[in-house]
Amino acid sequence: MASSSTCCSNSYYTFLSLFVRVILLFSCLVKPGLAAGSNFNQEFDVYWGDGRAKYLNNGQLLTLTLDKTSGSGIVSKKEYLFGRIDMQLKLVPGNSAGTVTTYYLSSQGSNHDEIDLEFLGNLSGDPYILHTNVYTQGQGGREQQFYLWFDPTANFHTYSILWNPLSIIFYVDGTPIRVFRNSASKGIPYPNNQPMKVYASLWDAEDWATRGGLVKTDWSQAPFNASFRNYKANACVWANGKSSCGTNSTKMPWFSQELDSTSEARLHWAQKNYMIYNYCADTRRFPQGFPPECTINT
Ligand SMILES: *[C@@H]1O[C@H](CO)[C@@H](O)[C@H](O)[C@H]1NC(C)=O
Ligand SMILES: *[C@@H]1O[C@H](CO)[C@@H](O)[C@H](O)[C@H]1NC(C)=O
Ligand SMILES: *[C@@H]1O[C@H](CO)[C@@H](O)[C@H](O)[C@H]1NC(C)=O
Repeated sequence: MASSSTCCSNSYYTFLSLFVRVILLFSCLVKPGLAAGSNFNQEFDVYWGDGRAKYLNNGQLLTLTLDKTSGSGIVSKKEYLFGRIDMQLKLVPGNSAGTVTTYYLSSQGSNHDEIDLEFLGNLSGDPYILHTNVYTQGQGGREQQFYLWFDPTANFHTYSILWNPLSIIFYVDGTPIRVFRNSASKGIPYPNNQPMKVYASLWDAEDWATRGGLVKTDWSQAPFNASFRNYKANACVWANGKSSCGTNSTKMPWFSQELDSTSEARLHWAQKNYMIYNYCADTRRFPQGFPPECTINT
């Protein structure tokens, strides 16, 4: 009998807590600032992995899967020339060593431009590395790596790429972690004339990802899953040689956004405490002196 009363009071509380959650959910949904992200189904094509990329919740959620046979990836249908792209990611939990989850912008062709965020997995409890890079005119080699100040597998976090004619800024939950400024006037190529698509993928890179390739993928944990939601592209769509922004681009705040002093301070906080590799400080790699942009992007 005691067990039946336990049962009933439990279910009463379960009902109550469910009710409260439903109310909370609705109060979130109606807040104008929390508009749902774009529909993955409408905005992306699966370019790799067939059924391993799945659109759920009416296209509001994407899961990418990696197993021994294949990883998976999606690419945006639209191309953009400048934009602010936001995406929320929840990374592969548990032993994710050897796996790499990516989210990046890239143009086509051999002299391509690319703006990269890659999340290098690790053994359970060991930190992920957020690996960033910028390619201009086919040339990369501008790696900066960071630890995160939270467990990126426990919840969704927002990773943003701001790309405008002045600079490229990488953000984690609104905190800038990296800036690459337009220094074309000083002869450093800047991505400003090749439209890019948005990509996301999950793949295996056990030969280099975790502790430089020392830790291999544990396939007994497969399939590995990463989740994506709240994709937002505040961006100029490039089609038929024209930008959807026309001459209006100057009216869009992100188009001329730069780091103000508060964001500069946040950037320095993130770099001081969480940056673990910076090509601009790698004297072994650049014994003759650092690439020219290094003095500009600090
Ligand atoms: C994995 O954990 C080790 C040990 O803490 C650390 O050295 C390494 O930077 C971490 N991340 C990756 C991707 O190797
Ligand atoms: C990954 O997702 C698949 C289905 O898509 C599921 O069967 C599997 O259990 C998930 N793996 C983990 C570790 O959550
Ligand atoms: C520019 O803005 C005006 C007014 O806001 C709008 O009517 C027009 O369609 C916009 N043009 C483009 C190309 O977006």
